Formats: sequence, structure tokens, C-alpha cells
Amino acid sequence: MCGIFGVLARRDAVPLLLGGLALLEYRGYDSAGLAVLEEGGALRLLKSAGKVKDLCRKAAADAIRGRPGIAHTRWATHGPPTDLNAHPHACGGRLALVHNGIIENHEVLRREQVRRGCRFHSDTDTEVIVHELDRCPRGNGTGLPPRAAQEVLGRLEGSYALAILETGNRRLLAARRGSPLLIGLGCGAAAGEYYISSDLAALLPLTSRYLVLEDGDLAELDEEGARIYDAAGRRVTRPVTETRLDPASSDKGPHGHHMLKEIHEQPQAVRATLEAGLRAGVPQAAPWSSGDPEETERILAQVRRLHLVACGTSYHAALVAAYWLEKHARLPCRVDIASEFRYRDPVVEERTLFVCISQSGETADTLAALRRAREAGYLATLGICNTPQSALAREVQLLFLTRAGLERGVASTKAFTAQLAALQLLSLLLAKARGRPWEATARNLERLPERLRESLRLEQRIKDCAATLAAADHILFLGRGLLLPVAMEGALKLKEVSYLRAECYPAGELKHGPLALVEPGVRVVVPVLNGELLPKLRTNLEEVKARGGEMLLFVDPRTGLEDQQGVRVIHVPPTEDDFQAPLLYAPPLQLLAYHVALRRGTDIDQPRNLAKSVTVE
Ligand code: AGP
Repeated sequence: MCGIFGVLARRDAVPLLLGGLALLEYRGYDSAGLAVLEEGGALRLLKSAGKVKDLCRKAAADAIRGRPGIAHTRWATHGPPTDLNAHPHACGGRLALVHNGIIENHEVLRREQVRRGCRFHSDTDTEVIVHELDRCPRGNGTGLPPRAAQEVLGRLEGSYALAILETGNRRLLAARRGSPLLIGLGCGAAAGEYYISSDLAALLPLTSRYLVLEDGDLAELDEEGARIYDAAGRRVTRPVTETRLDPASSDKGPHGHHMLKEIHEQPQAVRATLEAGLRAGVPQAAPWSSGDPEETERILAQVRRLHLVACGTSYHAALVAAYWLEKHARLPCRVDIASEFRYRDPVVEERTLFVCISQSGETADTLAALRRAREAGYLATLGICNTPQSALAREVQLLFLTRAGLERGVASTKAFTAQLAALQLLSLLLAKARGRPWEATARNLERLPERLRESLRLEQRIKDCAATLAAADHILFLGRGLLLPVAMEGALKLKEVSYLRAECYPAGELKHGPLALVEPGVRVVVPVLNGELLPKLRTNLEEVKARGGEMLLFVDPRTGLEDQQGVRVIHVPPTEDDFQAPLLYAPPLQLLAYHVALRRGTDIDQPRNLAKSVTVE
């Protein structure tokens, strides 16, 4: 939930540290800080509650300079967002570190350390790491011996990604267990420089070359190079990857927010994802493999049921997929929220494929669910992920990478429709493996990106409706069938970015309780397909109207539903294709959330209390 950045270079590290934090801020943004070694070798810290821009102002006023350096942008887990609780945390002017993760035995360690006379300056769990490392015997003035540092870290329970700076030598240490950490390698004029980062986005302006530390690794970075030690203390090498992501891809462009830009990037995100899984209109198994396409074909041919597990928006994608898998592949599906699944003792029927879906690939609950599933006797584990270098991407047996590109808005949008595109491909692959019809549906996929564009052209109509909703204090979303998960996603988007109380129920559930919420003036948002459920849904809408509910309907024009007293109608591009429907109705609901939030003046790209990658449970 936090962002870590480190720079080992011969130049002043401060500007690079601040630039890195700005690109990591979507991971957590309630306080920030940095530490450098000044010219004379003294350790200098600068910390600030608030956003990275507040730290930048402090750094400018302070004229702090130095190298190497570490930096951190925080999502508070232990202790409120204050200057004192901001990272880095230091000890005796000898050592400073930044941490992403949670140290679960921090209270025990803190009590021991207080008994030893350690003085604490913060409420954080992180500070115990500093005091543990500080008692390490130093080498002959060269700082923490890597092996000794690893032994100390072995006493910690929980998760960590660390960047460590010490006086007495111009090197950095980086270590990880359970939280992501990458090492960027300088190139060209910056050859010999190293960067430590929680994710790829912050490395892109500096380098396209990076390696991923594995759990238990500790890296020692200095002007002689990078030395990596695995959990057993053995020197190891980790493969260097060259990314083709464009640094400019993380800019907002002409849009006011990353969220709006990413909403409008959905046609190309869906196109790129579909193209990755189709060849001449035929779904391919190869892109789902982790190296052996025949292995993938063999596994998919055995699948008799699926268990899909995810969090948040990715969970909603899984709910949509269950409809498709049941209808097109005639396979029973179970869908679970990862934080619930991870603590259950699942009954796993034979030939069940475990599918985990995650944009970041670092969501703690989804990773824990995957690790539980790997021991529970599933046929295989399959991941759908947007982040190639993530833990989830490395730990599943079968992997499909969505091609949504960097998603920086905390509210997930293009990753959602890219996940849906991937899940369509999976449904068709399994239908094909089971001799069921798939060709006609596959042929329609190529029209999806253009149809998505038609939906996005509704933005002005949607913007005109935003004012009314922005003034509401509670909004009820209703959905039926395939569009129920889409309505759930619309409610999540709205609550995430506008902070309005927005909840979603199956429309058929109204009479079982939620109808009590409806009174004159209550706002109700409903996506309406022109399908077999339409008559039932019309009845539900009448129930709402009869009680004075004010409705905003996103409808297929062929439903015949039109504007009337208490009812605003927005026509969504018509479709009979159940693969198309969720991807046509999701963008209007995303745009609604965005424009309502815009009117309410919230921090759309960095909503309060949230973070992009939930790497702690
Ligand atoms: C979506 O808008 C939210 N930011 C959140 O629900 C997110 O979908 C969830 O945390 C799962 O993230 P993941 O896809 O990276 O695993």
C-alpha cells in the first residue's frame, strides 16, 4: 500500500527521488519522506504529512541535496499520517529505511527493544526494523553485512519491501518478502546507476531495464555493481527484463485525470487484449501458457468446473465471467471474494480450475488465496493479470496478461474491460475444448473496440446527469442477470471516487428489503438490457417509480423506455451479444462516477483512504 523508491547515482538523488515518488503516489498518499547522504556523509531526512507535492515544497525550501537516497509515499497502516510517522525511519543517524508491508510481530519486538533502551519516535510497525538492524555488528566500517542483515530480517514476521541507507558507505540495500520490489538498471549516460522501486511505473522515466527481487532476496547496490543474495544467503542473479512500456503512457495527456484518460483508453486496451489471445479470429491456448502451449491445451481439455477468486473490480469481472462460462462452455462456476476464500477450507471437486484475477498482481488477499489454492488440490491455477512483473504473474501455473497498459487511477477502469476481454477468450477456449459453439461469438469480438467507442460518445449526456446525482446523499444501483455485476461495478466506482453512499442490489431482491430505502427523491441507477429479463425489470422499475424514486436508466433503445417524469434515459448502443453487453454498459457507469466526483471536487485519481495496490490485508 506504500511506494518505495531509491536512487544510487553519482548525481544528486533528491530530484530523482521526488520524481519517483510522484509516479508511485497512487500506491499511497497520506505522507511522504526521503533520506540522503549529504556531501560530508551525514544522513539527512525530510518528511511531510500530506502529498508528495508538500514534500517537494519542503525539499525546495530546505535545498536538501545528497546521494544515494531513499524515499517513500505512505498509506497509513499503523499510526496516523503525521511527519513523525512518515518514512524514512532512522536510528542514531547511522541508518534509515523505508518499508512497504506489515510487521506482524512488531509489538513483541518493540517491547524487547524498549527494554533494551531503544527510543521510539513513531507509532509505526516499521520502526522496529530500524532498531533490529541497528544492533547488527557492522563490518569494518562498511556497514551492515548482507548476511547479518538477512538474519535480522528473518526475525520479522509479516511482509516487507525495504530500501536501506547507512552512513559510512555510499550504497543501498534492498530486501523483500511478500511486497513487490524492483531494481532498475541505469543505461546510456546513466549506466552504473541503480534504482529501487515498488513498481515499474516509477522506473520508466529513468530506464526500461529492470529485475524483480524474489521473496527473501537482499540486494546490495553500490558503485561496483549489484549483488543479490537469496533467502539462504547464496549469491544469485535475477533475470533482467526490458520493458516496452512508454514513459509517456503514465501521463494524463489532455485529460484532467488519469481515470478519465484510462476510461477513454478502453477501446485500445480491449483490442490489444483480444489480439493477444486470437489468431485469425480463433482463440489460442498459447498466450495462456507459462511456456508450454500443449500443457495449456491439455489442462483446459480436462476442466470440468471453475473457481474464480478476486477482489473489488476484479471480483466483478469474475461475476460477469461466470455467466459466460456457464452459457458458452456449460461449465459450473463458483466466484469468491479473495479475503473470504483465503480463510475457508475449500471443498475442491476434481478437475476444478482455480482462476485468480488481479490488475496489480500484488493484492495481498488474492495472492493469499492463490497460495492456499496451490495446496488445495485444484487441477491448475490460472491468473489473469495486467502486471507482468507481479507476484501473481510469477506464481500461477497458467497466465494470461491483459494488455491494458499502466493503470494509474486508483479506480480501475480499463483494466476491468481488459479483464472481461480476457475472460471472454477463456470462455471461448473452454467452449472450443468441449466441442461447443464458439465461432460466431468469436467473430463478433472484433467489433467490440468500436462498439466501446460508441458507448464513450455518451459522455456529454452523462455529464449532464451528473449534477443531479452529485447532490444526492445515497444512490441505489439495481441490476439483473448479466448486468448485475456491471451495476455492482458502477456502484463501486461511484463510492470510490465521489465518496457517495452507493449500493447495489439484484433488482429481483427489491421486495425482500431494499425497497424500504425508496422514498421520494431517492436516486436509482439501472442498466437495462433488451432481453428476456426486461419485463421483470420493468416491474421492478415501476415499484421504484410508484414510491417516488428518481431513476437514471442506461437502456438499449429497443426497450422503448424513454424520458418521463422522474425517469432520465440514456440510450446505450444496442446489442444482443452477451459478450458485448457488459463492455457497452460499464464505460457509461464509469463516466457517471467520474463526472459526479468531478462535481463533488474529490481527489479522483487518489481517493481518500484508498490505494491502487492493496498489498496488505
Ligand atoms: C477498483 O476500482 C478498486 N481500486 C479495487 O477494488 C481493486 O479492484 C481491488 O483492490 C483489486 O485490485 P487488483 O485487481 O489489483 O487485485
